[in-house]
Amino acid sequence: MMHVYLDNSATTRQHDSVTEAMVLAMKEDYGNPSSLHRMGLVAEKILKEARARVAGSLQVQPEQIIFTSGGTEADNMAILGTVGHNLKKGNRIITTAVEHPAVLEPCRILEGRGYEVVRLPVDNRGIISLKDLEEALTPETLLVTVMHVNNEVGSIQPVREIYQRIQAYNQNHGSRILFHTDGVQSYGKLPLTGADADMISLSAHKIHGPKGIGALYVKKGITLQPLVVGGGQELGRRSGTENMPAIAGFGVAAEHIRINRESILKHLESCRLFFREQLLKKAADAVVNSPDGEFCQPGILSVSFPGLRGEVLLHFLEQDGIYVSTGSACSSGKKGHSHVLSAMGLPEARLEGTLRFSFSEYTTMEELAFTADRCREITARMTQLKQSRRR
Ligand SMILES: Cc1ncc(COP(=O)(O)O)c(C=O)c1O
Repeated sequence: MMHVYLDNSATTRQHDSVTEAMVLAMKEDYGNPSSLHRMGLVAEKILKEARARVAGSLQVQPEQIIFTSGGTEADNMAILGTVGHNLKKGNRIITTAVEHPAVLEPCRILEGRGYEVVRLPVDNRGIISLKDLEEALTPETLLVTVMHVNNEVGSIQPVREIYQRIQAYNQNHGSRILFHTDGVQSYGKLPLTGADADMISLSAHKIHGPKGIGALYVKKGITLQPLVVGGGQELGRRSGTENMPAIAGFGVAAEHIRINRESILKHLESCRLFFREQLLKKAADAVVNSPDGEFCQPGILSVSFPGLRGEVLLHFLEQDGIYVSTGSACSSGKKGHSHVLSAMGLPEARLEGTLRFSFSEYTTMEELAFTADRCREITARMTQLKQSRRR
């Protein structure tokens, strides 16, 4: 049976080179980078090299990278760390209605503590308006956090423009509003550098690196209250002995995208173009939810099959060896409709029957043609079954 993995926004297959670096860090170079002896020095060198590689992939300085346990911790650190360090300076946070729970949840907690959280609406492409953002900025605002690429539909937010508007506001009003972006779904695919935000969250397992490791880029001069305190690792910004095998693997994955990002993007664009065309030709009822062209990260295609249930479709595809998602991996276990598709104003019938197909550099056209064929047969069978039940 074919094995077609099209859930790359949930996680990716690890590169062999990543696994090799991790095994080496586990079996041979297993010292603690804080130890003073030779084995500690070897580990410290690995840590330094991985940090430089991650920094290089974002075109920033190594000391601006804080390793975390993943994208979730990086998002939490940016939000709670900013608020914790600026307790008396303001009480307002601006975000969007379509963020990942790793951003929504800390915001919700802060709201419970009396902070004002503004959730900017999005249009039918899933994108905020810069005018709304400008109108929401006030002297009490501490932080704006807007994701770069949405994990459910792939919409790209204009982060560079958002950052410029915030910088202009700061200059005109003598404020110090910080801008954080969750770069988890854009990193390694779209251009993303330290010029795009004050803080950027990254996750290794979305770029064929290991799970449970990520980073927060923090611009020079910004201080965050640490979430984890203790031995003072990561320059006191995140304590705890470093997860060395994962960090070594992250370094390899980061170097890979630094070198190959443009060709990866081209491949993802070909995947989207081909699959979209095949699917719309074969499964006549399919409706694409992801925005077109430049407004979407091409590795993600959200499609609705109105009147059908996404979860049932997912399990039928699984029987053919095809792995997809109904939305985000983190929320798909929960009941209720996607907050992202709802915020985009999708009608009820489309909210139910949604699948997310997400591609990677390992995805082939043969796999995509096979998947479109199977979608045609499964959706036809499900529609027929529904109609015969109604009779
Ligand atoms: C946009 C976005 N942010 C944050 C995360 C969380 O990253 P991690 O799984 O590394 O904690 C994810 C993971 O799905 C994501 O898609």
